[in-house]
Amino acid sequence: MGKPSRIFVLTGSGISAESGISTYRGGADGEEGLWSEVDFQKYASPEGFSEDPEGVHHFYNVRRKQVREVQPNSAHYALAQLQSKLRESGGDLTLVTQNVDDLHERAGAEVLHMHGEILKGICDMCPRPAFEVQGDLHISDGCDACGRIGTLRPDVVWFGEMPYHMEAIDVALSKADLFVSIGTSGAVYPAAGFVQEAKMRGIKTMELNLEPSDNAYAFDTADYGKAGEVVPRWAAQWGVSL
Ligand code: OAD
Repeated sequence: MGKPSRIFVLTGSGISAESGISTYRGGADGEEGLWSEVDFQKYASPEGFSEDPEGVHHFYNVRRKQVREVQPNSAHYALAQLQSKLRESGGDLTLVTQNVDDLHERAGAEVLHMHGEILKGICDMCPRPAFEVQGDLHISDGCDACGRIGTLRPDVVWFGEMPYHMEAIDVALSKADLFVSIGTSGAVYPAAGFVQEAKMRGIKTMELNLEPSDNAYAFDTADYGKAGEVVPRWAAQWGVSL
C-alpha cells in the first residue's frame, strides 16, 4: 500500500506550545495549563461573559496581544509544506485546528478554525461577518454595522456553543485515508470524538503528542515528543524538509 495522500489533521494547543502560547491543560513536564490558572467557566462561557464582560474582554485582549508577538514553529511549517506538496500531487491535507491563534496560516497553511479566531470579533446582536480586531475589545465599543454599544465579543467558541465548520469537517473526514491528531489532550468534544468517527469509517489513525492523550487507546499508531520534532519527522516521508 502506498503512502496516505488524503490526510485529515486535527491540531490542538500543544502544537503552539513551543511558539510560547500556553496550553489549556498543561503537559507532561508538570507545566500548568491556562485552565488551572483561571476558571474556564468564567472565561470560556456565554454565562461568564454576561456576568463580567470587561473582565472577559481583558483576558482575551492579553492573549490576543501575546498571539501577535509569537511566531509559528517547525510543526506549523511542516504541516503547511505537507499540505501544499499533497495538493500539488493530486492529494489533500485538510487542516482543522481547535486553536484560536493564527500560527497555521502565518506558516502558509489553509486551516479551518473550529473554535474560532482570537484575532477576530463578532457582534452578538447583528449578523455582520467576523471582523479583524485592531488592538483590543471593550464593552464601551460600538458595532460598526448595527451601532449598538457593548455587543462585541471575541470570535471564540465557548463551552456550550456550536463549533464552526462541522459540515466541512464531516465531508473531509469521510474522504480521508489517514486521521492525525496533533497536540491535543482529547478532553473536549466534538473534536475528541473525531478519532472514533475515523475508525468507524475504516480510516487509519495516528497521534502525535507530547504524551498519550485521553483517547490514546483509540489510535492505531503514535509518536510521542514535542510537536516541533515529531511533526517534521513524520512529514519528512513525503519529502518535507524545513
Ligand atoms: P489541552 O491543553 O487540553 O491539551 C494540550 C495537549 O498538548 C496535551 O495533551 C499536552 O500533552 C500536549 N502538548 C503540550 N506541549 C506539547 C508540545 N510541545 N508538543 C506536542 N504536544 C504538546 O489543549 P487542547 O486539546 O487544544 O477550547 O484543548 C482543547 C480545547 O479545550 C481548546 O480548544 C479550548 C480548551 O478549552 C475552547 O476554548 C472552546
